[in-house]
Amino acid sequence: MSNSDLISRVRAREILNFLGNPTVEAEVSLSDGSCGRAAVPAGISVGSSEVGQLLDGDQKRFAGKGVLKAVRNVQEVIGPALKGMSASRQEMIDNKLLELDGTSNKSRLGGNAILAVSLATAHAAAANKKLPLYRYLGGEGPFALPVPAFDMLEGGAHAQNSVDFQEYLVIPAGVSSFREALEAGVAIFHALLNLLQKKGGSIQPTGPLAAPLKSNQEGVEAIASAIETAGYRLGKQCFIGIDAATSELYKDGKYFLRCEKRELTSSEMDNLWSEWIDTYPIISIEDPMSEEDWDGWQAITRHIGERVQLVGDDLFTTNPEIVKKGIALGVANAVLIKPNQIGTLSETLETIRIASEAGWAAMLSTRSGETEDATITDLSVLSGCGQIKTGPPRAKSVVKHNRLLRIEEELGGEAKYKGVQAFRKLSPESG
Ligand code: PGA
Ligand code: ZN
Repeated sequence: MSNSDLISRVRAREILNFLGNPTVEAEVSLSDGSCGRAAVPAGISVGSSEVGQLLDGDQKRFAGKGVLKAVRNVQEVIGPALKGMSASRQEMIDNKLLELDGTSNKSRLGGNAILAVSLATAHAAAANKKLPLYRYLGGEGPFALPVPAFDMLEGGAHAQNSVDFQEYLVIPAGVSSFREALEAGVAIFHALLNLLQKKGGSIQPTGPLAAPLKSNQEGVEAIASAIETAGYRLGKQCFIGIDAATSELYKDGKYFLRCEKRELTSSEMDNLWSEWIDTYPIISIEDPMSEEDWDGWQAITRHIGERVQLVGDDLFTTNPEIVKKGIALGVANAVLIKPNQIGTLSETLETIRIASEAGWAAMLSTRSGETEDATITDLSVLSGCGQIKTGPPRAKSVVKHNRLLRIEEELGGEAKYKGVQAFRKLSPESG
């Protein structure tokens, strides 16, 4: 037993994310001089069960979005308490963080303060063992390179004057490597840009496109046609995904589709999805129903859950207990994984484990307000879950894509591109 991995110092600072908003970055240093760093992303459309991000609320700084209180919590409360603990005991560290916070939603110290330290500890322990994070946490594997789901066209809460559904994704599950998937993403983005610019579309600050289309279906048509224009076979090499983020559209029991000037009941929404999957090669629908509409969720899972991946994001908020409830009730068949929705690495990994034990898929995901922290790429590789959702291969998302290119090269023949196997509903054997 060596004592080289004992935590000697925990620091934090306020940095900026790619939206220009403050966020927490933490650094954990160990007795042997190893150091790990991590930063926390932020969402724009936030599920109601997500852990609280502690913001200063001081209107004189960053319109109240400063995180100096969370930084202080790391330096003054968390740091001294973790000093001398072994960084390799991730669960023990995370339990200590939960205990120090003492609330059910991490609101005292802040989910941002807690997650930054939780992830930085794992990075420090990996540095101590001189291993990349995926190998430190994933041992001998098996590892897999994830299929990227590129958010190409945005609407809803993510874009003004665009479609209602939040994300239209291109999923190159039928190509043979991550590198090829990335190349497809670049070509398809350019084809889509060209197409949507003619319809008044433009590039969003976060990377994807937005366009004032007349219907939500026109968005899917545009994605399908961009895939083909770029020279990829639709429904063979490249597929379509949707993050409808319908919690943002749901009011008084109805779904409001603003750009089509109509409102749908839960069962009409259900029918819209079943028509869409009959018409287009859509292999994944995230938040097809609102987080408040569990009955609607249950109905749609019964109705089309055998044919398409139904991913809970706002519904589950990466929370192991809520995912267990979903499994028990037959609600959804996949979970979106965003570590900052739940606040510690151990809980994030537990949610992935619970999902895979139930035969569910898990999709790691970036958030609207990302940083250069690429921890989720390693989590996607080590969990073998085979799916990662990002923006298009440009702007903030290339931080994640470039990290995956390096991992793909590093692992060589040891890890395969998960491809269509990541989508159980897709493989012909699944019936
Ligand atoms: P967010 O969006 O980062 O704004 O929450 C991503 C998503 O809903 O999946
Ligand atoms: Zn979502």
